[in-house]
Amino acid sequence: MAIERLVEPTMAENDKEEERIEISLRPVTFREYIGQEHLKNNLKLAINAVKKRSDGSTLDHVLLYGPPGLGKTTMAGVIAHELGTNLRVTSGPAIERAGDLASILTNLKDGDVLFIDEIHRLRRVVEEILYSAMEDYKLDIVIGKGPAARSVRLDLPHFTVIGATTRTGSLAGPLRDRFGIIHRLEYYKEPEIEQIINRTAKILNTEIHPEATQLLATRSRLTPRIANRLFKRVRDYADVNGDGIIDHQTAKKSLELMEIDALGLDPADRNMLQLMYDNYGDRPVGLTTIAALTGDETTTIEDFYEPYLLQLGLLARTPKGRLVTEKGRKHLQSIQNKI
Ligand code: ADE
Repeated sequence: MAIERLVEPTMAENDKEEERIEISLRPVTFREYIGQEHLKNNLKLAINAVKKRSDGSTLDHVLLYGPPGLGKTTMAGVIAHELGTNLRVTSGPAIERAGDLASILTNLKDGDVLFIDEIHRLRRVVEEILYSAMEDYKLDIVIGKGPAARSVRLDLPHFTVIGATTRTGSLAGPLRDRFGIIHRLEYYKEPEIEQIINRTAKILNTEIHPEATQLLATRSRLTPRIANRLFKRVRDYADVNGDGIIDHQTAKKSLELMEIDALGLDPADRNMLQLMYDNYGDRPVGLTTIAALTGDETTTIEDFYEPYLLQLGLLARTPKGRLVTEKGRKHLQSIQNKI
């Protein structure tokens, strides 16, 4: 990705400090995890059933999908914790060869949870091995080459895959069929984001006024990772320019400095909407054209910019392309003179 955006829902790579704080803020139990009530209730039931059976059965494979930053990895950690098992974390692009997957699978223990982030990016050969392993806990591998090659089946421990993806559409049918529990993570409600901000403030020993919490919540794109990131920036601002207490004025000034507007859009979002509107008005425009206008990859537009703009109704998707809605146009107008 070309630009690092403050409202980027993925974690900034190589940012160890951010990673350390994010881990310290991560809820470990269902009780600590705020929001996603529907998903939590379903998972609690499934986990309780597994525990009650005590016949060595494992939790069904779980597929979590939805926009980034909503807590898919965090939820995987909570599931493993609640099951009382180990969590192994990997990602689609990280498993390059069939052998990499074989080594991960053979090192698991019964009941372990294997979290595969960006599971839609698994290579085809790897994907095929994975779904047969998920089906019957067997690993088919070929030993040797040429006429001497033979195929052996290895028994694997009974494990649970938790797959995370921003898009279910690009997951191969056979793989998707192996998941017994498929769930979409929803955007959070504003009061939930407020609760998350207050929880973060407590963990990081920072005083924040309720009006400031509310203001931050309205600008966090209903996404916990963004709420926490904005919180940290505002906390820095309060430390440098004041007494470290975050009140409404501090939060407001700090958000102005970050150029985050009333809806939580940053300059990159507004730039995309403005370019679309300036060039196409309220007519639909294709994804590749938008990508050419902004200089981003099409996947970046689809995964990062679009979901929240669609959710807000500033952008609409039609069979002929994306268009800036009336609401989008009004928003652009309203922020011409102020952020
Ligand atoms: N921090 C980030 N996401 C959270 C959540 N869903 N609940 C509690 N704390 C969080």
